[in-house]
Amino acid sequence: MSFPVTRMRRLRANQTLRQMVRETSLSVNDLIYPLFVIYGKDKRIPVASMPGIYQLSVDRLVEEVKEVHGLGIPAVLLFGIPEHKDNSGSSSWLDGGIVQNAVREIKSICPELIVITDVCMCEYTDHGHCGLLTEDGRVDNDATLELLARQALSHVQAGCDIVAPSDMMDGRVGVIRRTIDSQGFAQVPIMSYAAKFASGFYGPFREAAQSAPSFGDRKSYQMDPGNGREALREAQLDLDEGADIIMVKPALAYLDVIKAVKEEFGCPTAAYSVSGEYAMFKAAGQNGWIQEEGIAMEMLTAMKRAGADMIITYWAKEAANLLNT
Ligand code: PBG
Repeated sequence: MSFPVTRMRRLRANQTLRQMVRETSLSVNDLIYPLFVIYGKDKRIPVASMPGIYQLSVDRLVEEVKEVHGLGIPAVLLFGIPEHKDNSGSSSWLDGGIVQNAVREIKSICPELIVITDVCMCEYTDHGHCGLLTEDGRVDNDATLELLARQALSHVQAGCDIVAPSDMMDGRVGVIRRTIDSQGFAQVPIMSYAAKFASGFYGPFREAAQSAPSFGDRKSYQMDPGNGREALREAQLDLDEGADIIMVKPALAYLDVIKAVKEEFGCPTAAYSVSGEYAMFKAAGQNGWIQEEGIAMEMLTAMKRAGADMIITYWAKEAANLLNT
């Protein structure tokens, strides 16, 4: 008598069958590629801890944007590195600011590419915190809101498609929503970094965006890694204030949070596979300790399986190349 085999085992027997019964598949349409835009001309500066990632001046965006679009990646997420920083981050809302110029440049090169802008103060403040400081050095939540709204409005006026506030000040989604609506931009969606954890995984980004805090840390405004239910309360508040897409960040160590957000709200959900995740598998891959491609694709698939509709990843171009072949 032969042993019965499980049904799935029969269905795993060959490649075509495996594809037919696959529950989750990654698509190029799911990917968002982050770009770091730096002041100056003709700059393409490699980020040491993120091999393959560069800080680009606005005039050097052309080749990058064409490549991303050519690969079928539908969207980019912009971070700006300004020349001048001050204690209120005043270069963040200038019409001729770094992100605003980059938005216009990308839209002129490639109007179909969705341009998402990160809205935050930390790249623009000399102290590197995500908001204004009080005299005794604490982050002043309420005073920061108006500045974030100004920044978001200037991005929208420059022509971005989505604004993505990442500062974690309470109430910012509502203030941004009301501000841009009142200026005639009610159609522009908000992607909220709703569940953003105080994470060690942001290290390489802070080199890339030159945004490390000059003192202290971000634990008073970013979430404690132990708190999954708090993430749902944050997401609920942001949805109530008018967020259209809820983001969970980082992704790999927070797959349960992605799943919970998707199950609880059923809303469009984004996962941000952050700089430290990329740095880990790049470094191990370059050492020959792991097989980078397989592991990166497995991680991205896991994020989708958890419930992400879209994934922000520094590995988007490599993934698109593999998915397109
Ligand atoms: C804040 C911001 C951060 C990241 C995106 N937006 C860093 C932080 O909170 O320190 C991190 C992204 C990454 O690590 O890839 N503007």
